[in-house]
Amino acid sequence: MGKKLIGPFSQLLSLTNVPVKGALSDQQLVIKEQAGILTENGKIAAIGNYDGLRENHAHDATLVIIEEETVCVPGYIDCHTHIAFAGNRANDFALRNAGASYLEIAKAGGGIWSTVQHTRNASEAELITNIINCSKALIKQGITTIEVKSGYGLSVKEELKILRAIKRAQESIAVDLIPTCLAAHMKPKDYEGTAVDYLEEIASELFPILKEEQLSNRIDAFIEQSAFSAEDIQNYFTKAQKMGFDITVHADQFSTSGSKVAVQYNAISADHLEASHETEIKLLADSNTVAVALPGASIGIGCAFTPARKLLDQGASLAIATDWNPGSAPMGQLMTQATILATTEKLSNAEVFAAITFRAALALNLTDRGRLQPGELADFAIYKTNNYQNITYMQGTLKPDQVWKKGINIYTKGKES
Ligand code: NIG
Ligand code: FE
Repeated sequence: MGKKLIGPFSQLLSLTNVPVKGALSDQQLVIKEQAGILTENGKIAAIGNYDGLRENHAHDATLVIIEEETVCVPGYIDCHTHIAFAGNRANDFALRNAGASYLEIAKAGGGIWSTVQHTRNASEAELITNIINCSKALIKQGITTIEVKSGYGLSVKEELKILRAIKRAQESIAVDLIPTCLAAHMKPKDYEGTAVDYLEEIASELFPILKEEQLSNRIDAFIEQSAFSAEDIQNYFTKAQKMGFDITVHADQFSTSGSKVAVQYNAISADHLEASHETEIKLLADSNTVAVALPGASIGIGCAFTPARKLLDQGASLAIATDWNPGSAPMGQLMTQATILATTEKLSNAEVFAAITFRAALALNLTDRGRLQPGELADFAIYKTNNYQNITYMQGTLKPDQVWKKGINIYTKGKES
């Protein structure tokens, strides 16, 4: 692939030199004006003044000229989704709004277990279609990397079906899907042994296949009263780590204890944290574990937001993701959710953009994306506006006009396939 010069952009938000941890002010954002991006082999070769780049590269690069006033941002990273599912939980939503709690609905046969029934009944092809459709909806939002969890299979065979579907879906999707094994989403109701027996079976039978077929290098667990306890999960995480898997945790969603386990295992991320208080906030802030806020789950369930302000002020790295799933977070709109969290938690634009770009990349243990700088993937989104502040101000209703992945224009508004 030859070189391409794309631009000029009225503003380019590179996020270069913005720290990985802690609170950020908008003064820390360097906004480059009249900028261009030079790409080569899917990566960024240079970022700089458009006229200067054009002078030097008119002879060896294809020019992609942007005629209108635009703002260019790094491709967003949705670092926590559950889009490999079948079925719908509109009734759970109605029941919650009529006063039932998430955990009460789960106990009564709704919740995760009802999606497990639908997902087990779905074919691999149906799951692939759902993953592709959800991915397309995310791409339109400027998202160029999507984490996708299993977790609605809850047996070796059914978890494999889901993870193979994610791998197959990747063949028809231009953005990167990062698969995570969440076989530890809850103890399946049809499993006769104990929670620990179930986890042992998954670790001994499923983990080796994940390696063999390269289905995932990430192991997640839901640590909660309705799922697995901190004690239950010890051997499971120890085995996973010994085999070289990265650890991530659904932590402190309704009660605390998950964040402690996350830090104990030096997890790449601890996600949810709606119930985290001072002790947990400090633990996370002092660790290298990225705290991931999932405002879509707070909005979907109607519960408190993750204490994002306190986490940042104490020095944590904060990412924000959609948690897109049919139960707690059916919306799947990253910018809308991030900016609603921003108004409640008082997050700066810099904190919002960092949370859905390079900090979200770190939550996936990826260091090759999330900033617009030489050497990183040429993943970016282009908005028709002349001021980057409009992107957060419009709370997700201003959508990108173009999305680029690895130096290729994969989406243009109005020209969807
Ligand atoms: O991240 N909290 C656990 N898992 C999902 C919800 C799954 C579901 O309700 O289907 C979450 O919110
Ligand atoms: Fe989740």
